[in-house]
Amino acid sequence: MTADPWTIYWQADNRDSCIATAVPDDAEQIAALWRDFAGCLADGGMVLDLATGNGTVPAALLAGNPTLKITGVDRAEINPLQFLSAPGPLHGVTFMGSVDVCSLPFDADSFDAVTSQFGIEYADFDRSLPEAARVIRAGGRLAFMMHHVDSAVVLPAQSRLQEMQGLLQSGGVVELLSAFVAGDRAFAELDAAGKRHLDGAVERTAGVTGQIFEGVRTAVRLLQAGRAGEARELSSTMSLRLRADRDRLRQLAAAAQDATQFGRTANRLRQLGLDVDVAAEWHLPESSGTTTLLGWQLMCTKQ
Ligand SMILES: C[S@@+](CC[C@H](N)C(=O)[O-])C[C@H]1O[C@@H](n2cnc3c(N)ncnc32)[C@H](O)[C@@H]1O
Repeated sequence: MTADPWTIYWQADNRDSCIATAVPDDAEQIAALWRDFAGCLADGGMVLDLATGNGTVPAALLAGNPTLKITGVDRAEINPLQFLSAPGPLHGVTFMGSVDVCSLPFDADSFDAVTSQFGIEYADFDRSLPEAARVIRAGGRLAFMMHHVDSAVVLPAQSRLQEMQGLLQSGGVVELLSAFVAGDRAFAELDAAGKRHLDGAVERTAGVTGQIFEGVRTAVRLLQAGRAGEARELSSTMSLRLRADRDRLRQLAAAAQDATQFGRTANRLRQLGLDVDVAAEWHLPESSGTTTLLGWQLMCTKQ
C-alpha cells in the first residue's frame, strides 16, 4: 500500500476533501464561485488546476464553461477517470498524477488561467508560486481558494486531528487493539484504553471514534470466533487508514494561513508580475443572518 495519504484518499473514490461541516451547501457555493470564474474565460481557454485531487474544480469549471480545455495535476497518484465511480464530465479533462506544483512540466505562458482550491498552499510557496506565475500567459488569470486558519474547514479538521492523535497515541486504542489481536495484551487493557479515550477532553465523533470502536468490536468478535488472522488484518487496515487520515489533516493544518502569511503570499505574486485583483477572506453567502468563513480568495491577472 502506498504511504502517501492523498493517494490513498483519492484512490478510494472520494470526490471532495475539504468540505466544511458548518453549512449544508458549502460544496455547492464554492462550485458556484468556480462556475462564475469559468464564465469569464474565453471559450476554448486552456486552464491548469493545481493539486486537483479528484477534479472538484475542473468539474465546476466545466459546468460554467464546457468549452474549456482543462489539465489537472497533483503530486498524488491520481486518476479520477479510473478511481471515481462516476467521473461524469471529467472525461474531457487531462489528469496528470505524480506532478509536483513546484516543478510543472509545462512551457512558460501555456495557460489562460491557473486555479487551485485548497491545494497550492500545501507546497512550498517559494517554489510553487513562481511556477504558477510562469505557466500563465500575459493577461491570463490566477484564481486560488486557500486554507484560512480560522475557517469552517480548518477548525473542525484541527479537532478531528486531535481525536485521531488520541486514538493513535502510545498506549491508545489502536496500539492496544493490535497487541490484543496478536495475543500480546489482555482484553482488559484494550477496554481500559477505550474508556480513557471516551473520558478524555477531546471531542469525539461518529466518523472517527465511532468507526474505530465499531472496528474494535468486529475484531474482538472475529477473535472470539477463532478467526484470528482476519482480526489481525482488520486491525492493521484500520491502523493504516487512520494514520493516513491523520497525516492528511496534519498537512491541512500546516497549510492554513493567517492574515500575515496570506498578505505575504499576495505580495510574492505581485513581485512575480501579477496584479492582485482580489485578496480577501471568502465567506459563504449569508444565510439566516450568519456568515461562514471558508478560506482566502486570491484572484490575479498576469501583466
Ligand atoms: C486538500 S487536497 C485538495 C484537492 C482538490 N483541489 C480539491 O479541492 O478537492 C490537497 C491536494 O494537494 C496535493 N498536493 C500537496 N502537495 C502537493 C505538491 N507539492 N504538488 C502537487 N500537489 C500537491 C495533495 O496530493 C492533495 O491532493
